[in-house]
Amino acid sequence: MKKTNEFIELENQVGAHNYHPLPVVLSRGEGAYLWDVEGKRYLDFLSAYSAVNQGHCHPKIIKALTEQAQHLTLTSRAFYNDQLGPYEKFVTDYFGYDRMLPMNTGVEAGETALKLCRKWGYQKKGIPENKAKIIFAQGNFWGRTIAAVSSSTDPVTYKEFGPYTPGFEIIPYNDLKALEKEAQDPHTAGFMVEPIQGEAGVIVPNEGYLKGVRELCNKYKVIFMADEIQTGLGRTGRLLACDHEKIKPDLLILGKALSGGVFPVSAVLGSHEILLCLKPGEHGSTFGGNPLACAVARAALEIIRDEKLPQKAEELGAVFREQLKQLNMPWVKQIRGKGLLNAIEIDSNYQSTARSICLKMAEKGLLAKPTHGHIIRFAPPLVISKEDLLNGCQIIIETFQEFV
Ligand SMILES: Cc1ncc(COP(=O)(O)O)c(C=O)c1O
Repeated sequence: MKKTNEFIELENQVGAHNYHPLPVVLSRGEGAYLWDVEGKRYLDFLSAYSAVNQGHCHPKIIKALTEQAQHLTLTSRAFYNDQLGPYEKFVTDYFGYDRMLPMNTGVEAGETALKLCRKWGYQKKGIPENKAKIIFAQGNFWGRTIAAVSSSTDPVTYKEFGPYTPGFEIIPYNDLKALEKEAQDPHTAGFMVEPIQGEAGVIVPNEGYLKGVRELCNKYKVIFMADEIQTGLGRTGRLLACDHEKIKPDLLILGKALSGGVFPVSAVLGSHEILLCLKPGEHGSTFGGNPLACAVARAALEIIRDEKLPQKAEELGAVFREQLKQLNMPWVKQIRGKGLLNAIEIDSNYQSTARSICLKMAEKGLLAKPTHGHIIRFAPPLVISKEDLLNGCQIIIETFQEFV
């Protein structure tokens, strides 16, 4: 363990302590597998928070990356490049939207959606200047910028980062009445929501919630922004989690698996009416829409379609939840999820933490991550074989059985 400890110690000494990783030092990945610096192999049941839906180092993505890297990587948007236009055409056709705006990280895509929403509110809805309101749901998570933490209800996320961004209203998740009350306000420009709340612990709303959101947003002329950064791109058993209810948000926010986890690529998709509210110079990013990102993201999306990853997630997700029915300990409160985005919630009074269970699973060769102390999220790459999924279930069951 000498190498492992050295790497961990080095990070401890010179890195900021803004994460608390499991003590595993990874150096290689392929498909659903990861290897640590000691050569031990793991099944990845986190997929870098659902960024690696296509599996680690998918050969088609790596090919697109290395080929494009030899031609052109970055021009900035000061000039055109020969990748962005074809990529934008591909993406808008793929998801059925008029236009898209490319960014890098997920949180930047979230910020972009909010800026589009406010612009639209002033230009199209006639909201008086500086009065636009945007609604969020309790338990949301969309990143770490000041705007993102301003809309968070988790003290760990927002405490001591104030003063906070004004113009945000928080309502309970999965509550259409609360949404209607806020949406009626003529100053309300939009509602940003995750179709399933990932970081909050895989919170699945009632069936019909998203449809209800769609109807209310239509009724009160409010922009429906779906944060599909974690739920999108096959993860929940459909291309988008909104597809479960056959609804189309006004702004679709994508990130994470848009690059297959190769590097940060995000995007916001929407109508001519909304996206054209932004004029040159009003928004952008040096790296947004760079040729390398375009080539990588295109390959990443082709894989989702060609390898039928949404269908795989749907089928394997059912297998996963069926297997985990064997966990009948009284302290296992709930097993929930859709497709291959699932979680086990343990009783918060239970003597052992989710982290201690994750540490034990890691010892047995499966990597998963606790969220909020008593919830463990399970989100393997969607390319995982049924055999490996069953092996993973076996490790989870065996581990849970070792806790009394
Ligand atoms: C639903 C959702 N939105 C946005 C983000 C932020 O993405 P990023 O970390 O790439 O900024 C995350 C990250 O976990 C997320 O889960």
